[in-house]
Amino acid sequence: MMGVIASAPAKVILLGEHFVVYGEPAIVIAIDRRAYAKVENRSDKRLYLHSTNLNLAGYFDNNNFKVEYGDFKEAIMKFEPIKLAVEKVMEKCGERAGLNIEINSTVPVAAGLGSSAAVVAAVTKAVSALLGVELSKEEVFRITFQSEKIVHGSPSGIDPAISTFGGTLLFQMDTGFKPLEVKADIPLVIGDTGMERSTRTQVEKVHGIREKYPHIIEPMMHAARELVLRAIEALRYNDLETLGELMNINHALLYGLGVSDESLEWLISAARKAGALGAKLTGAGGGGCMIALARSEGIEKVVEAIQRAGGRPFIAKKTDEGVRVEKA
Ligand code: MEV
Repeated sequence: MMGVIASAPAKVILLGEHFVVYGEPAIVIAIDRRAYAKVENRSDKRLYLHSTNLNLAGYFDNNNFKVEYGDFKEAIMKFEPIKLAVEKVMEKCGERAGLNIEINSTVPVAAGLGSSAAVVAAVTKAVSALLGVELSKEEVFRITFQSEKIVHGSPSGIDPAISTFGGTLLFQMDTGFKPLEVKADIPLVIGDTGMERSTRTQVEKVHGIREKYPHIIEPMMHAARELVLRAIEALRYNDLETLGELMNINHALLYGLGVSDESLEWLISAARKAGALGAKLTGAGGGGCMIALARSEGIEKVVEAIQRAGGRPFIAKKTDEGVRVEKA
């Protein structure tokens, strides 16, 4: 049988990262960078995984992992969550098949853009399509979320949600998520610092500071909630100026939590000087990516400023398409 290819989008969090882990709302946008998974049957029962962009390959034979190329520790760290998702899909169809999975992603890794969730959502979709298991998006989300917990410790679920459903979501842990209608274009530039970091470590850092200073962090949580609510209005009326201000305030709160770093501050300050209406870190921080909101006519200046400051800029286009089969 021929293979199946599925894909899922990366994301940027416009507002509300970290606070979202404590039940506050966040706004997240799917972007036109996708992770692709190609899945084929094997004649044996092995699960063979190959990530072309990470240059890693190896296989699970029952629970034993063998690396074929790349670093063993890195390979098992990247492949274990994928294996878990594959097993969940197989449980649904009651069949244990051998598979070759090839992952190809255009999403910078460990950069705050949700690459791990995009990869797992794409694999889940591709495996289910190959094995003929009908999975609703809700189920793809649940499986991706379970596997994400191995990677990130205690994540909110925002990354699996956006990779699965796409679009622009207002996400909140207890109430779930709802699509936000954003008619206008939001001209966003992403600046990658090139510094990889772990979401788990960043989330733990915030946990620590919250334990230490509950009465200081609580009002910051409240402020984060208010600015997300205010941003919904700004998006509705395409009020980019207000949105930019809210992004700046949000960044100040994140800075206060201790999740920014020099590489991010450098790019954020360069973007603001070049006329960005607002700029902030996006995702877990501590390196990774920042985003800047520009006016359409001023976007190139912001791109250049980020580049000159040593970052890797690209313009983010939002996408409505969540996880999908590309080729069956
Ligand atoms: C990661 O993209 C966003 C964080 O808020 C963690 C999470 O919500 O799971 C830092």
